[in-house]
Amino acid sequence: MKVRIEVVLLIWSAPVLAQQASIDSGPVVFRRDCAFCHGRDGGGGESGPDLTRSKLVGDDKGGSTIGPLVREGRPDRGMPAFHLSDEDLAGVVAFLHAQATKAEANKGGRKGVDEADLLTGNAEAGKRYFEQACARCHSVTGDLAGLAGRLHGLRLEERMLYPRNAKSTVTVTLPDGETLSGELVYLDEFTVALKEASGKHRSWRTTDVKYTVSSPAEAHVELLPKYTDEDVHNLVAYLETLR
Ligand code: HEC
Ligand code: HEC
Repeated sequence: MKVRIEVVLLIWSAPVLAQQASIDSGPVVFRRDCAFCHGRDGGGGESGPDLTRSKLVGDDKGGSTIGPLVREGRPDRGMPAFHLSDEDLAGVVAFLHAQATKAEANKGGRKGVDEADLLTGNAEAGKRYFEQACARCHSVTGDLAGLAGRLHGLRLEERMLYPRNAKSTVTVTLPDGETLSGELVYLDEFTVALKEASGKHRSWRTTDVKYTVSSPAEAHVELLPKYTDEDVHNLVAYLETLR
């Protein structure tokens, strides 16, 4: 019995020590390279998911899953590859574990994603939540009709938490007062461009027009800290009925 405990300690102590040494640089590197998308504290931002409740982060042991992901990225899905030094990477890994522990300690917060938990949801309660929090943007007979035919279980939950195809829209007001709306196709300091419903592209100098951008996916990001585990399971149970 005693021997067993020592072996476990040995396995654990190496990554823990490595993380301890570099934990100070973690927040700095994270805020420099990652916060832009994942939020200052890793809790999710406009273009990157909440990492404090990520299953991948939860499964990580001393960089085992975070390391390869960060080094290779998922370029097709908006996660760039980073070439961090071993020390910076260890710092980021330690920072993410610390943030995940904090998030877990938050009362009422979601603890993570577990396939088995998904079966505990109550579809009726999920329906009520949906009508109150989601129905202004979604319709179960419209855009989400047949959703469960395409997505199940964890994939469904993941997509609900972090939708992929959310296009921002922009409304541009021209100097003469005319307003145009469409999908935002480009925006920087100098240029704003949209695609009209007809498919036509139009662009202006930002100094010549007034514009407001609305990013519907932000609604999802804002919802993340509001859900409890139970809310998420109930919602998934309800969405699973949309066949
Ligand atoms: C340009 C935006 C952007 C930046 C910068 C960025 N990420 Fe990401 N990251 C994403 C997106 C988007 C995803 C989700 C990809 C997907 O859908 O599979 C992601 C996914 C991840 C995941 C996997 C989460 C999961 O549960 O699958 C981890 C871990 C991660 N990022 C860590 C980092 C770290 C660490 C940094 C900084 C070194 C970083 N990211 C910088 C956009 C970004
Ligand atoms: C302010 C508008 C808005 C609100 C509120 C909102 N969503 Fe979304 N949702 C979107 C947009 C935009 C997308 C991306 C479009 C897409 O993927 O089809 C999306 C995508 C999704 C997807 C993925 C659909 C797919 O086909 O991949 C699911 C599932 C979803 N939302 C569920 C919900 C649930 C559940 C709620 C409430 C808890 C909610 N949404 C609240 C705007 C919203």
